[in-house]
Amino acid sequence: MTIIDLRDQTEDFTANPYPYYEKLREAGPVHHVRTADVEEMWLIVGYEEARKALADPRLAKNWRTSELWDEELVTPMSSNMLETDPPQHTRLRKLVAREFTPRRVEAMRPRVQQITDELLDSMTAKGSSAADLVDALAFPLPMTVICELLGVPDLDRDRFRAWSSEIVAPTGNEASIAAVGEMAAYLAELIADKSSSPGEDLLSALIKASDEDGDRLSPDELVGMAFLLLVAGHETTVNLISNGVRALLSHPDQLAALRADFDGLLDGAVEEMLRYDGPVENSTFRFARESVEIGGLVIPQSKPVLVSLAGGDRDPARYPDPDRFDIRRAPQGHLAFGHGIHFCLGAPLARMEGRIAIRTLLERCPDLELTPDGGPLDWLPGLLIRGVRKLPVRW
Ligand code: HEM
Repeated sequence: MTIIDLRDQTEDFTANPYPYYEKLREAGPVHHVRTADVEEMWLIVGYEEARKALADPRLAKNWRTSELWDEELVTPMSSNMLETDPPQHTRLRKLVAREFTPRRVEAMRPRVQQITDELLDSMTAKGSSAADLVDALAFPLPMTVICELLGVPDLDRDRFRAWSSEIVAPTGNEASIAAVGEMAAYLAELIADKSSSPGEDLLSALIKASDEDGDRLSPDELVGMAFLLLVAGHETTVNLISNGVRALLSHPDQLAALRADFDGLLDGAVEEMLRYDGPVENSTFRFARESVEIGGLVIPQSKPVLVSLAGGDRDPARYPDPDRFDIRRAPQGHLAFGHGIHFCLGAPLARMEGRIAIRTLLERCPDLELTPDGGPLDWLPGLLIRGVRKLPVRW
């Protein structure tokens, strides 16, 4: 089968990749493709195949399994859950799950509401009637929450934001290598400070954590854990809020239905936002441990695989009329948080933040709309994250 060159895709692809994934899906669930950074890899766009691949132990996360492996890629942050397989992944996940509990997340609820209220107070202060929603709410809410949860309220936010966005949506190879190096040094220092003056927060708990066998996180594993939690907290929920609000404001019937019945429809609406235009367009890389057949194609050993969450979640075989945004759909089983052993650890927190942010925003701004002359949207580059840099709204 011929290799499909994703480098031929223009800016239209970043702005709206769905028609392209649809075309691929119509031709088959799995494709052999080339991107700007990777000579050849396999892209899975069918829902069933995507879900199975996410839980397939023959597809590994450790880059050592891959032909892309390069010793120079190793940083202290590499010992994180998204770059490890069992048994190391199992250990890491167990140690963090003991501390990042539903109770700890639920305890954040009043604070999430308070931060949301304060951000919306500032946004609507002094009779203002227009804002960039990313800057006013979608970005600062999850960032403040993850910093407070981890116990780093004085994080150097501007610097951290620049590194973090360079890592998930790289603008260049050198820039992203520099960002990784600077962030690793910064996190090591942060953890050293926390170790000497611990608090009640998650990072202090992780530094102290040990399981019944006395197992603990090593210094590099702590850096990897802080890295993953902070970056996930910075780069994903922001796009749940901004993609979700954009979907609602461009579907007035759905918006009106939600406004009329928050209690009955809000939770389902947030799930549909995740399915329809989720923050993670394609999974992180997996690598074939052995030659693996998926959807009729053979993926040779050590080759990289990307699972298209955006492609799978618009598969008509799973979701009838998949391009329709329908908040009553109840899209159970969507792939926006992944599936299998790497299923998003932060999903309960992200859902809570998304529900509180969207409901409070709509209640505070009853006539909220997209700014009609807001100009073309500025999309984040790359295949991983789907979202805009700014979302001009008015009320
Ligand atoms: C709407 C917001 C979010 C979305 C859509 C999202 C999505 C995802 C996805 C798709 C994965 C799996 C990636 C893969 O298998 O390649 C994942 C993993 C993960 N997420 Fe999230 N995430 C969100 C928010 C968060 C938050 C707020 C946190 C932290 C507080 C978080 C922490 C993690 C961690 C630690 C993993 C790795 C789990 C593992 O490997 O076992 N996520 N997330």
